[in-house]
Amino acid sequence: MIGTDIALAARYLEAGEVVAMPTETVYGLAGNAFDTAAVARIFAVKNRPFFDPLIVHTHSIAQLESLVTQLPPLAQHLAQQWMPGALTLLLPKRAVIPDLVTNGSPLVALRLPQHPMAQALLRAVRFPLAAPSANPFGYISPTTAQHVAEQLGNHIPYIIDGGSCAVGIESTIVGFAADGRLVVHRLGGITLDQLRHTVGHEPLLATSTHSNPQTAGQLDRHYSPRKPILVGNNLPQLIEQQQHLRLGVLSFEQRHQHPAIAAQCVLSATASMEQAAAHFFAMLRQLDSCPSVQLIVAQLLPPVGLGLAINDRLKRAAAPAV
Ligand code: TXA
Ligand code: MG
Repeated sequence: MIGTDIALAARYLEAGEVVAMPTETVYGLAGNAFDTAAVARIFAVKNRPFFDPLIVHTHSIAQLESLVTQLPPLAQHLAQQWMPGALTLLLPKRAVIPDLVTNGSPLVALRLPQHPMAQALLRAVRFPLAAPSANPFGYISPTTAQHVAEQLGNHIPYIIDGGSCAVGIESTIVGFAADGRLVVHRLGGITLDQLRHTVGHEPLLATSTHSNPQTAGQLDRHYSPRKPILVGNNLPQLIEQQQHLRLGVLSFEQRHQHPAIAAQCVLSATASMEQAAAHFFAMLRQLDSCPSVQLIVAQLLPPVGLGLAINDRLKRAAAPAV
């Protein structure tokens, strides 16, 4: 069922069920983070391997603090600046967080969503919520309640409808190196420029290794449509090369003309990165579900600001399945 009844969703959660909740980044599939059975249910519904740990959502910095053994000054500073928002912090967990949530890691990923319905839900229950994106493992992330309903509707009792996600791509995940430097594990809604400005030094980028389960958001193939997808910088050239197929084109700001184009989505006619991020997953999904499209061709964005995070997702979407 889809609706806006937070109290009902909270009752399902109290009963150990999982429900979908809107956040400003993407929709999450939420369950009681303290309850191993509810957490196991999240993995089952998503068909997600246990080695891929879950982000824990809280309603306040005070609640976040109750789940960790330390909050270093740099983490406090980041929390004050960007929470609530599209930032996730990796911090040493307390024993109340089950090992299943973190895949046995001593670090837990913590986030405070800004979406008012997520905040209301978090305040309506007596526990924090573990929540991955509410899509089947490896597929395009959901940015509307309908996206969730299409794929998980039969497996969960309730989907909270909070409209389209304003940010549209997942949170930026950061941790802290032994020397105190900030380490970015996944690019997302908070940009490198914003982080650099907040912490006053150049963040390190965690290297993307082969499907390394320890490295957040770094699975090689992820966010992928069912249809084949090619990504590149030169869209006219890609279209020309693939003109023997019926193409679904995902471009940044410009429309393209070619007889091979069967469907086309423009991320932002005004070349706004924010708008491109907000449209990104929904447009990719639209091209994937368009019956006449045989191949999706997508343009990489200028590698600045949110463009870096969108390009990261495009490249993973197009990575070969192993
Ligand atoms: O914006 C978001 O972060 C959304 C919304 C729903 O909050 N959530 C999200 O969750 O993107 P998910 O599960 O799709 O991606 C979370 C990433 C995973 O790649 C996982 O590997 C990493 O976070 N992660 C979670 N806990 C971790 C931990 N303890 N250590 C390292 N990586 C972790
Ligand atoms: Mg995900």
